[in-house]
Amino acid sequence: MSALEVRELSKHFSIGGALRRSHVHAVEDVSFALRPGTITALVGESGSGKTTVARLLARLYDPSSGAVLFEGSDVSHVRRRRDVLHYRSQVQIIFQDPFGSLNPVKTIRHHVERPLRIHHIVPSAQVEERAHELLRTVGLVPPEEIAAKYPHELSGGQRQRVAIARALAVEPKIVLADEPTSMLDVSIRIGILNLMVKLKEERGIAFLYVTHDLASARYVADEILVMYAGQIVERGPVEQVLAEPLHPYTRLLLAAVPDPAKRDAERIGTRKGVASAAVDPPEGCRFVSRCPLAIDVCSHVTPPLVEARPAQAARCHVTAPAPSTR
Ligand SMILES: Nc1ncnc2c1ncn2[C@@H]1O[C@H](COP(=O)(O)OP(=O)(O)OP(=O)(O)O)[C@@H](O)[C@H]1O
Ligand code: SF4
Ligand SMILES: [Mg+2]
Repeated sequence: MSALEVRELSKHFSIGGALRRSHVHAVEDVSFALRPGTITALVGESGSGKTTVARLLARLYDPSSGAVLFEGSDVSHVRRRRDVLHYRSQVQIIFQDPFGSLNPVKTIRHHVERPLRIHHIVPSAQVEERAHELLRTVGLVPPEEIAAKYPHELSGGQRQRVAIARALAVEPKIVLADEPTSMLDVSIRIGILNLMVKLKEERGIAFLYVTHDLASARYVADEILVMYAGQIVERGPVEQVLAEPLHPYTRLLLAAVPDPAKRDAERIGTRKGVASAAVDPPEGCRFVSRCPLAIDVCSHVTPPLVEARPAQAARCHVTAPAPSTR
């Protein structure tokens, strides 16, 4: 059974002034499931909608349409404070910037103990001990020393580990990690990736790992979702998709990776961007203006996500045609 399931999820934003109003279809018709004890990578260029998906899953945004199912029930319109609090304790989000997510005037002890108290995870007398345990779990030792420090006294990698310890405090079933390593030195990234693998194995957590970096997706993930201009254009087991991609966009991403040893070359364009193909999109494939395989139908019929190989699906009239058009 999946821990979290997303069905036909969409999120549209209005942009522009009163004279010329447009809508960014930041997330459109997105469906997938996160399974316990697995890591699902969500990759795509800047502006493709990855963070918006993570924020929808964390219930930080209301969807424009579609549903988010947590253990089988629809939570996309949960409003009662108690219910939102319960959901947020099960589904934790970790952001890119470990600096921004910690309060500079509070100690690490405060950050890790707070969720334990708010959510009554353990009796008060055990809070300190549990906080130390969490710090040990994320490799911050000795915990007594780390707990007494302030965020600025730690390195970037250590701060991200604190953010992870804080997320784990509430014993979540799902962790949404939005580019958790992109602000860290390359040498530190691997430690955070290994920590995710350890946590999925030991705690059965379902991770959504948002990244620009195909190499790290290949390293940690079980499943991969490739996003382009708000839509999932390909999904499947990571090894299979990266070995034999179906969608021309996935192929383009891989072709832009000249040498797996050069990690920086594997980053998929990290400038902040608006995916222009997602602004007031007409019918048709959003990738058509960049696609070397485009045919007539591509510019006026939106391709559906079709399972063209076992477990591997793509949104493409040519490489994954719908049964009716084959
Ligand atoms: N609050 C908002 N209001 C208007 N437009 C938004 C808002 N949030 C995101 N967008 C737009 O939605 C699209 C998707 O943005 P999102 O941040 O989800 O992309 P991303 O894949 O996370 O990009 P990056 O890799 O740069 O983090 C972009 O075109 C962005 O400009
Ligand atoms: S549907 Fe057409 S334009 Fe879109 S990716 Fe496939 S071939 Fe290219
Ligand atoms: Mg983002």
